[in-house]
Amino acid sequence: MNLQLTNKVAIVLAASKGLGKAIAASLSAEGAKVIIGSRNTEELSKTAAQISKLTGNEVIAIPVDVANGDEMKDFIEQAAARFGRIDILLNNAGGPPFNKFEEFDDNAWQKAFELNLLSFARASRLVLPHMQKTGSGRIINIISGSVKAVLANSVLSTSMRMGVVGMAKLMADEFGPYNITVNNVAPGMILTDRLKHTLPQGIDPDLALKEKAKNIPLGRIGKPEELAALVTFLSSAQAAYISGTTIQVDGGASRSIF
Ligand SMILES: NC(=O)c1ccc[n+]([C@@H]2O[C@H](COP(=O)([O-])OP(=O)(O)OC[C@H]3O[C@@H](n4cnc5c(N)ncnc54)[C@H](OP(=O)(O)O)[C@@H]3O)[C@@H](O)[C@H]2O)c1
Repeated sequence: MNLQLTNKVAIVLAASKGLGKAIAASLSAEGAKVIIGSRNTEELSKTAAQISKLTGNEVIAIPVDVANGDEMKDFIEQAAARFGRIDILLNNAGGPPFNKFEEFDDNAWQKAFELNLLSFARASRLVLPHMQKTGSGRIINIISGSVKAVLANSVLSTSMRMGVVGMAKLMADEFGPYNITVNNVAPGMILTDRLKHTLPQGIDPDLALKEKAKNIPLGRIGKPEELAALVTFLSSAQAAYISGTTIQVDGGASRSIF
């Protein structure tokens, strides 16, 4: 299937490693010109060079903290100036901390809001005029499977991601007439540094991962490229009629019907 992504311009946020990096690599492999952003300049440049070497396509690194409004505005201006258009926006960020509800004060809630909800709204708002100008676009948000079945200690994540679900539904309604689709991708357990950091200390990591995978029907933790494949499809011409949805990539882990 030719996904018709050659020369499309894609912004992939929080992309120096993990899910963002895999998504950037997958879009680049399909011919897109990719602009990646995250905070650590050195890591980001290394990732851009690595992907570009693999795919033979241009990958631009622009450092940004997605939670910082001024930096985000500069980032989108630079990205738009680089190729003259923006076709795809992948909203992503680091995850908020895990803990019990009672442990989070106002400051923790505010930080989670700025990182995991406001940053998505802001980046979308900044990119939309560019998509409206060309009469098409794809906005895809990385959220979490916890919007389908709550996970212990994930109150900050779940609360902010539910906000993204509502926002994406409204945006799909408002921007459908411009041929812009808005969707969410909800990972279950995908093997990245974030997941590795949640493993219990003092236990062999492979055993700990096997233990975690016991409740997953497919019997294993997912790979970043398996989630990236869905994002790449949602970015494509073939996904033109999919909008306002939340799709899980979790090996069947969520037993919820809705
Ligand atoms: N992996 C999973 O199983 C899973 C499951 C459910 C939900 N998720 C969610 O999916 C998202 C990505 O997770 P991941 O597993 O890919 O995490 P990861 O491996 O820890 O990678 C996080 C990436 O985000 C960047 N980042 C973090 N904070 C940022 C900020 N303020 N501004 C710009 N970039 C930032 C990091 O780079 P810098 O540090 O250089 O900025 C890094 O490139 C997270 O929100 C996570 O909660 C993941």
